[in-house]
Amino acid sequence: MCVKPRFDLPRIGVGIAHRPSFARAIEQHRDRIDCIEICADHYISRTEGRLARAVELSERLPIAPHGLELSIGADARLDMKYCRDVARVAKAVRAPWYSDHLCFTQISQIELGQLTPIAFTDAAATRCAAKARQFQDMLGMPLLLENITYYMAIPGGTMTEAEFLSKVVNDADCGILLDLTNLYINSQNLHYDPYEFIDNIPLERVVQVHLAGGVYEDEVWIDTHSQPIDRHPEVWDLLDYLCRRAPVRSVLIERDANLPDDFGEMLAEVEHARAVWA
Ligand SMILES: [Fe+2]
Repeated sequence: MCVKPRFDLPRIGVGIAHRPSFARAIEQHRDRIDCIEICADHYISRTEGRLARAVELSERLPIAPHGLELSIGADARLDMKYCRDVARVAKAVRAPWYSDHLCFTQISQIELGQLTPIAFTDAAATRCAAKARQFQDMLGMPLLLENITYYMAIPGGTMTEAEFLSKVVNDADCGILLDLTNLYINSQNLHYDPYEFIDNIPLERVVQVHLAGGVYEDEVWIDTHSQPIDRHPEVWDLLDYLCRRAPVRSVLIERDANLPDDFGEMLAEVEHARAVWA
């Protein structure tokens, strides 16, 4: 039932998105964490000491670098300096793949400070695919594109998100980082079936998964990365459904706010995800 993977990549397991506040706990509980994700942007300037620590850590734990500012959906060329900088980080930690978001974060070189959704059009998908292919060639490793949360359909779109994502990754021959919490939140806010979404993307390209916990406020789900995943247990069901069908190589848990006093809460989520994934 599980499709054959598009890429020959290692199964690096289940881990946690590395944050400075977790550094010590991750070291202490390394035997219970298979891998980590680092934010590549935090390692590219005046941070040689930080990068050296990540390189050292990568000798003991596989690292999946994740970027924020590729801005692949922007109507502009790639920022080649940024691409070279994050590629250097990815190569330094001997990453199996590199990921960023299918969105834009800049307009006319102005940083928006957020992941902004793209209108789902054929022209935008073609543009994103060309840039993804260019960056992936430069990386020398698979690029994964991640689905983001958005709270309204961007006007002008002519495709569903699943069609848009599929066209970009198929045309670019790149992979997917499927954030199941983002998928769940969008499906609730925008009223569609998340299982149908999964059924309509090229599952052979799904390499990595993100899980996080959001909040429900004023009848809207918000992607805050501030809660246990159990806040919406339906996400565990989506993980089970996906892992039976797609050759998922890694599951990463993201927590950025309202950090638990007890790291055991994070470890329990890792173990839960591992049991589903395995
Ligand atoms: Fe994510």
